[in-house]
Amino acid sequence: MPELRVGERRFHVAVDSNLLDALLGQGVSVPYSCRSGSCHACLVRCLHGEPQDSQPEALTQERRADGWRLACQCQIVGDLEVEPFDPQRDGMPAEVLGVDWLSPRVLRLRLLPSRALRYRPGQHLVLWWGDVARPYSLASVPTEDAWLEFHIDCGHAGAFADAARSLVVGDTLRLGELRGGALHYDPDWQARPLWLLAAGTGLAPLFGVLREALRQEHSAAIRLLHVAPEPAEHYLREPLQALAAAHANVQIDLLTVDQLATALSELRIVSRQTLALLCGHRSTLEHFARRLYMAGLPRSQMFADAFVSRDEPA
Ligand SMILES: Cc1cc2nc3c(=O)[nH]c(=O)nc-3n(C[C@H](O)[C@H](O)[C@H](O)COP(=O)(O)OP(=O)(O)OC[C@H]3O[C@@H](n4cnc5c(N)ncnc54)[C@H](O)[C@@H]3O)c2cc1C
Ligand code: FES
Repeated sequence: MPELRVGERRFHVAVDSNLLDALLGQGVSVPYSCRSGSCHACLVRCLHGEPQDSQPEALTQERRADGWRLACQCQIVGDLEVEPFDPQRDGMPAEVLGVDWLSPRVLRLRLLPSRALRYRPGQHLVLWWGDVARPYSLASVPTEDAWLEFHIDCGHAGAFADAARSLVVGDTLRLGELRGGALHYDPDWQARPLWLLAAGTGLAPLFGVLREALRQEHSAAIRLLHVAPEPAEHYLREPLQALAAAHANVQIDLLTVDQLATALSELRIVSRQTLALLCGHRSTLEHFARRLYMAGLPRSQMFADAFVSRDEPA
């Protein structure tokens, strides 16, 4: 049986054990969220030995060369020594600049990182608060906002949501991996109709993408559809309506969950060039994608980021 080493601790584990499960099973604290290689909360650094990695492309070559691996994607095939990502040592500090409620369940968090962070609107970061790490999408635009902005859904009991409710200006969080790319704005899209379909706080990255598209003078129609459980949860109603008032090509549709099926059945693709960006929890995304496909939009013209939560069935 291979030996797994973490600091002074040594364990024997079955060949082909999943690295994340093996570490958690031995009481080593490693945060995780999606278990599918997308959130990057479960980063560990391999000091000796090499696990079998089922998704090597999920990390940059640079990160891999430094020994970083996603524990949820690795199998133990031989002796291995690892150290978990340590937010104090490996993460970037970021100070809370602002924290306020945009709706009864959505908290807006603005952070000032200790040094400038290069990112594209639509990407996401792992936020660390103590030993809790969860992925959250950036709602800010680097060329326009001096801070990093996040929209945190606190409508459920959860380790991060609970902690976020008590954050105050001046607190320091740590930033983990910057990830994503499915949701972005490509300047080549300027003349193509753009649909942005968001469920709940799936609006966060699409708000960034919308502002980036307008900043890059997108000329074709942009339609943004936001689905929320109730009208009070259209938490960006005013800024979205202000953007629509200032740009003739922007249409905003604010829908509640019970209006969604009818609205989706009425969607008509007017141009074969249309592109759709989808974001939110997986079940709603699947609903969006199915309807768009039935309306004639090829899957290759849809870009999606699913908010998978911890302990959700894969
Ligand atoms: C790439 C990516 C980007 C994300 N971006 C955002 C974002 O910008 N804003 C945002 O609010 N979320 C976002 N999420 C989702 C967020 O990371 C998860 O919902 C996370 O699990 C919340 O952590 P928690 O500690 O509050 O709850 P956890 O302790 O992880 O979960 C506790 C329980 O609550 C359930 N749960 C978690 N979140 C929800 C929810 N929203 N509604 C209902 N039940 C829930 C879980 O299934 C679990 O049973 C993103 C997820 C991914 C993968
Ligand atoms: S990438 Fe491993 S838990 Fe999300």
